[in-house]
Amino acid sequence: MAVTESRAKKLVAGIKSLLKSPLKKVASGAKGKLPLVAARKDGTKITPAMLQKSAKAHLWMHFTRYSLFENKDMPIIERAEGHHIYDVNGEKYFDGLSGLFSVNAGHGRKRYADAAAKQMQELDFFPLWGFAHPRAIELAERLLSYAPENLNRVFFTTGGGEAVESAWKIAKQYFKMTGKPTKHKVISRHVAYHGTSQGALSITGIPAMKKMFEPLVPSTFRVPNTNFYRAPSNFKNEDEFGLWAANRAEEMILFEDPDTVAAIYAEPIQNSGGCFTASPVYWKRLREICDKYDVLLVADETITGFGRSGTMFACERYGIVPDMMVLAKAMTSSYQPLGALMITERLFEPFKTGTNILAHGYTFAAHPVACAVALENLDVFDEEDLVGNVARNTAKFRKTLEKLYDLPIVGNVRGDGYFFAIELVKDKATKQTFTPAECEKLLRGYLAGAMLKVGLYARADDRGNPVIQLAPPLTIGPKEFDELEQMLRKVLTPAMSKI
Ligand SMILES: Cc1ncc(COP(=O)(O)O)c(C=O)c1O
Repeated sequence: MAVTESRAKKLVAGIKSLLKSPLKKVASGAKGKLPLVAARKDGTKITPAMLQKSAKAHLWMHFTRYSLFENKDMPIIERAEGHHIYDVNGEKYFDGLSGLFSVNAGHGRKRYADAAAKQMQELDFFPLWGFAHPRAIELAERLLSYAPENLNRVFFTTGGGEAVESAWKIAKQYFKMTGKPTKHKVISRHVAYHGTSQGALSITGIPAMKKMFEPLVPSTFRVPNTNFYRAPSNFKNEDEFGLWAANRAEEMILFEDPDTVAAIYAEPIQNSGGCFTASPVYWKRLREICDKYDVLLVADETITGFGRSGTMFACERYGIVPDMMVLAKAMTSSYQPLGALMITERLFEPFKTGTNILAHGYTFAAHPVACAVALENLDVFDEEDLVGNVARNTAKFRKTLEKLYDLPIVGNVRGDGYFFAIELVKDKATKQTFTPAECEKLLRGYLAGAMLKVGLYARADDRGNPVIQLAPPLTIGPKEFDELEQMLRKVLTPAMSKI
């Protein structure tokens, strides 16, 4: 008994010392080991060098190759105004990507901060679990006011991936509750990106991005996307190719058995791979197929929503009739994190009765502050006619970028609205692309740095064939298009020699 007691004492002492050591480590920040902690406490200035050192030591940035920063600084963005961002060293860059396809109204709008402050003072936070709050109710109605007629119900999340996940769960449960319990599979398109959580990643069509996380949620299948530039030459136009591509979805439904397929996910303009648009023929046929086999069409408007394509939602521009629409990014112009699903009432019907419930949700979904900012953002959209600005200028934007066709490396300029990709090729005549090793040199070895050097923040991407992508704030116009073209020209003129 005595032995057991002394053992217990030792154990307690051990646990106490274990608990003490991490605490001691944090506290030692005040002694200089964690200088940012100390600086905040002392009120001393945090320098760019201190930020650099700490970021390299402690911060895990997303989708970021850390080896790149072994011998050079990582970019640290400190402030933003209009369509410009500024790093900690005071360097100014044209925000050619609206942050992440998302700051559609442009940076630095004080009225958004005022709306957030006002909301925080009224209701800082309350969850949407069993209680509603005024801003969520108001925002749901406001979103629907811009939506296709058939959508009538809004389910909030905190971002796009969560909305993608939520749509799949809603689809599965809906079919279980309506006598089709085996319908659960999802079809999506080759190279499409739909998010990183394990369900959304399973729906994503980029194998390289999934490899390290397999096995993912089973039951998702890929069909061809609508990349007309890379379509076989027997297709005379986008309508013909679109029809062929849509019919592959029917084929997949039949291969898998219609009784097992719940939904098809598609972006109105596919981002990953580089701004693939599709003919209205494609969307019409996809709708017919969905109706024929009772498969739900989920339009992922995470990027295309909120004016990016030249209408509030791209579904309107291309005549897409979805059963669910995924929204995120620009709902608040990214001043706050927020996502949502707009849903046809048919899918909500079974949840209206008895003990039925969708056992699914997120703490921060429809955060009151985010909803208040979203409403302010939509006021700005309406007051400044940002969507109209895109619709009026998209042809000019395209034409300006097409000037780059005189460069041998520019194979294809494609996209719509304020959302364009420039595909880079080794040989324009044959459309020959670069090898993975060449892409590595071109994109990470040259383009990423060269764009920043000329003052441009944009995306150089090779999830499909190599592209530069532009998605600037919707506030800009022809003068800024010229500026973008000039910067890209400077970067792309010597690009071929960098491989
Ligand atoms: C089409 C699409 N769906 C989903 C997502 C995931 O959104 P989030 O990063 O907000 O989870 C993205 C992100 O870029 C996207 O482009």
